[in-house]
Amino acid sequence: MTTVMKSELNLFQSYKFPRTRYQGSKYKLQAWIKSHLETLDFETALDAFSGTSSISYIMKEMNKTVHSNDILKFNYYIAKALIENSDEQITKDNFNNIIKKREGYDYLSFIKDTFQDIYFLEEENEWLDIVIQNINQLKNENKKAMFLWALFQSCISKRPYNLFHRKNLYVRTSDVKRNFGNKTTWDKPFEEHFYKFIKEINSAIFDNQKNNKAYHSDIFELDIETDLVYFDTPYIPQKGTLTYYRDFYHFLDGLTNYDDWHKEIDYNTKHRKLQSTYNIWEDKKNIINAFENLIKKFKNSIIVISYRNDGIPTIKEISDILKKYGKEVKIETIDYQYVLSKKQNLKEVLIIGK
Ligand SMILES: C[S@@+](CC[C@H](N)C(=O)[O-])C[C@H]1O[C@@H](n2cnc3c(N)ncnc32)[C@H](O)[C@@H]1O
Repeated sequence: MTTVMKSELNLFQSYKFPRTRYQGSKYKLQAWIKSHLETLDFETALDAFSGTSSISYIMKEMNKTVHSNDILKFNYYIAKALIENSDEQITKDNFNNIIKKREGYDYLSFIKDTFQDIYFLEEENEWLDIVIQNINQLKNENKKAMFLWALFQSCISKRPYNLFHRKNLYVRTSDVKRNFGNKTTWDKPFEEHFYKFIKEINSAIFDNQKNNKAYHSDIFELDIETDLVYFDTPYIPQKGTLTYYRDFYHFLDGLTNYDDWHKEIDYNTKHRKLQSTYNIWEDKKNIINAFENLIKKFKNSIIVISYRNDGIPTIKEISDILKKYGKEVKIETIDYQYVLSKKQNLKEVLIIGK
């Protein structure tokens, strides 16, 4: 018998975008960005570097037809769960089936064998091996995406710094004084995190009556035309460190490719990251050419760019490229302090080219 526990899993209540931890997420700027998008005339939109889909989500709320794209496959599943999906819900029975070890199924132990003492405890790695293989058995692609979303958030929550950039399980386990992090959250069982996130994703799903789509492609390979394009590219600050998305979140991308994960791992690294790939958005010397090519590619659309006042290239250089392609440029700014950033006087910027 299927037991649908509406109250317990928040089925069919009013929807809400779930707060997530992802570097560069525009979650806290949603209202400000929405207020500017509302002044523009468009029906179809591309969120070209969608990450957590926080901006795709507000455009979906604005009843636009939304296309969400990110080069990383785990972000594609996030967009599929939140943006493409309009009505699917996870029931308590669905949840119980996913966390249960199935009799007669020959489970692999890839995570346990490969990531020992790196990110999670042995029993946690075993739990991940079972749950990801159960998720991969699902025929319903939207439910699969929702379970993956909850699994990614659970993994991120249990990680010091919410990243996979180092072999640092010891930060969790060693008996030292900590001035950063939340041991209670790290030590909370996967199952509890997972259940909480399933409730959150159930509460986030809504239908805007449009045919919204998720993609995972290098932006230069994507062939889509929309009235408006929103760019939130990886960001290179003039001083300070870059966010290397593939390196920092490789474990989540690996989860989306469980059967072939081993083929992509760089076994020379202590933390078993994926093999490096070149990304022009992480290349200080060439990123300006990437902006030029991107603006050229989407010159027929309204272009909205999220940016900051300390980036390479500068706001002026980006504005000049937009003007070169016939755009009228408007700059909007707001004071904003990123979590973990010690820099003062940072301003979040929207460069709008009409
Ligand atoms: C600043 S984040 C976007 C954050 C997003 N707006 C949000 O609110 O969560 C930049 C994103 O660009 C993606 N990315 C990097 N290189 C890309 C490329 N060549 N094509 C498409 N996406 C790319 C990264 O995976 C990352 O998720």
